[in-house]
Amino acid sequence: MLKDKMIAGINEQINREMYSAYLYMSMSAYSNMIGLKGFANWFMVQYHEEMLHAMKLYEYMQRQGGDVLLKAIEAPPAEFESPMDMFVKTLAHEQFITRSINDLMDLAIAEKDHASQIFLQWYVNEQVEEEENDNDIILQLKIIKDDAHALLMLDRELAGRMTTVPTDFSKGIESAMNAVVPAP
Ligand SMILES: [Fe+2]
Ligand SMILES: [Fe+2]
Repeated sequence: MLKDKMIAGINEQINREMYSAYLYMSMSAYSNMIGLKGFANWFMVQYHEEMLHAMKLYEYMQRQGGDVLLKAIEAPPAEFESPMDMFVKTLAHEQFITRSINDLMDLAIAEKDHASQIFLQWYVNEQVEEEENDNDIILQLKIIKDDAHALLMLDRELAGRMTTVPTDFSKGIESAMNAVVPAP
């Protein structure tokens, strides 16, 4: 059983992960529009990751008997100044998500909700990875500066990112996880 405050917090987090998916979908569209198909691929893979983040919370809530309450998803920005602008905004957004996850964890600790603490641990780890990935790309973009050739090389590298998370949740997260073929 989840306490009311926990239910409210998880519903808010579902909305934030859905916004994350929406934001990266918008960045993918913008990348395509400016001819950077590798960046577009990277952001679309990230979109799928965000859908998993939302769906894990959605399923956990239902398993714990809490009511899922879906809220309106805010419109993300549609235009960006540059690839650097997209990744600086991505990192800032993920830092906001990290704070939000930490707040949820603090709540779970205050409420002595052990199951939620263990569940949220996955998100604590995931946020370390997310911020690291964004930082790595920002560092590369700093080296690239205005070098178009180098930017196209990075675009080619980002084109290789594969979706390794499940994308079909109709049978639940666990069965979706089992159905995912590990990357070669
Ligand atoms: Fe996320
Ligand atoms: Fe991730």
